[in-house]
Amino acid sequence: EMTTAEMEARVREIKESFGKTLFIPGHHYQKDEVMQFSDAAGDSLQLAQVAAGNKDAKYIVFCGVHFMAETADILTSDEQVVVLPDMRAGCSMADMADIAQTERAWTKLQELFGDTILPLTYVNSTAAIKAFCGRNGGATVTSSNAKPMVAWAFTQKERILFLPDQHLGRNTAYDLGVPLEQMAVWDPHTDTLQHEGPLEDIRVILWKGHCSVHENFTVKNIEYVRKTHPEMNILVHPECSREVVAASDYAGSTKYIIDRIEQAPSGSQWAIGTEMNLVKRMIAGHPDKHIISLNPYMCPCLTMNRIDLPHLLWALESLEQGQEVNVIRVPQDVAAEAMLALERMLARA
Ligand code: 13P
Ligand code: SF4
Repeated sequence: EMTTAEMEARVREIKESFGKTLFIPGHHYQKDEVMQFSDAAGDSLQLAQVAAGNKDAKYIVFCGVHFMAETADILTSDEQVVVLPDMRAGCSMADMADIAQTERAWTKLQELFGDTILPLTYVNSTAAIKAFCGRNGGATVTSSNAKPMVAWAFTQKERILFLPDQHLGRNTAYDLGVPLEQMAVWDPHTDTLQHEGPLEDIRVILWKGHCSVHENFTVKNIEYVRKTHPEMNILVHPECSREVVAASDYAGSTKYIIDRIEQAPSGSQWAIGTEMNLVKRMIAGHPDKHIISLNPYMCPCLTMNRIDLPHLLWALESLEQGQEVNVIRVPQDVAAEAMLALERMLARA
């Protein structure tokens, strides 16, 4: 058994020997024990951009979740190899929309609305869903650019289908002035459209998916913080529900949350509704500010947390021995169509 210090020393040694031919992107929700070795820390948009810009690395060891590694594979050349240190690092939200369900939904929605819908997918989705959007004229979005992307979509078509996160879709459309009555929810388990107002008024069709981490922040949590810490600013990610976003003071992407805390004055107080590792890092990094998790139990993303120091070391040692393990390779035809959706986003991001 190796000690933590020994594992860290080995990671450092392997990183040094690979030099620029090895690149380790790390999402902000990753554990400190792997983030200390990341060559770029970012949210999902930033990591997509750095992957697209990297021409030197033969190996990209992605510290994040499966859909992010797929995106990195799509955006890099065929010679570059993307490795996910633990294949169990998926995303429960991405798993809520599979391609068969999506094609079924699309057929039904075309029957109801004709050719008036543009599909958009949050990058937190499988490559197959991105490809579906690509071939139907749509695009990917991230939480950092959802607003301009949805605004763009409405210049293309009267309606949008937003996959797979109903909350990001609803919060973004609401911010753009679309009333809630003009939003419907597509339930992939019953293949039905749930709506209140008349069908012809519907402008936004939300896929019934959600993030199992951000759904743990509730209006009750907010009421409790308001009562016990009236000075606290409440800052949440738009993967939280509409009710939670409406009851909070600020809402925005991972990058927005980080920037907001950086710019906050010393002594200010913040209750944050996002993933635990990021909240912990912000607490540690800003001792002059009073920061708590909006949900007192903290909310870890279990799949993000699959990537730990032992898995990172195992992946790196395998590469050192010439074994390409846990390679994420998106089939060529899927990648080509997914690329269309990603390019429509990156051109505007
Ligand atoms: P962003 O990195 O786009 O804020 O997304 C948050 C998230 O849940 C990533 O899985
Ligand atoms: Fe998926 Fe939510 Fe985890 Fe992000 S935080 S990887 S959306 S489950």
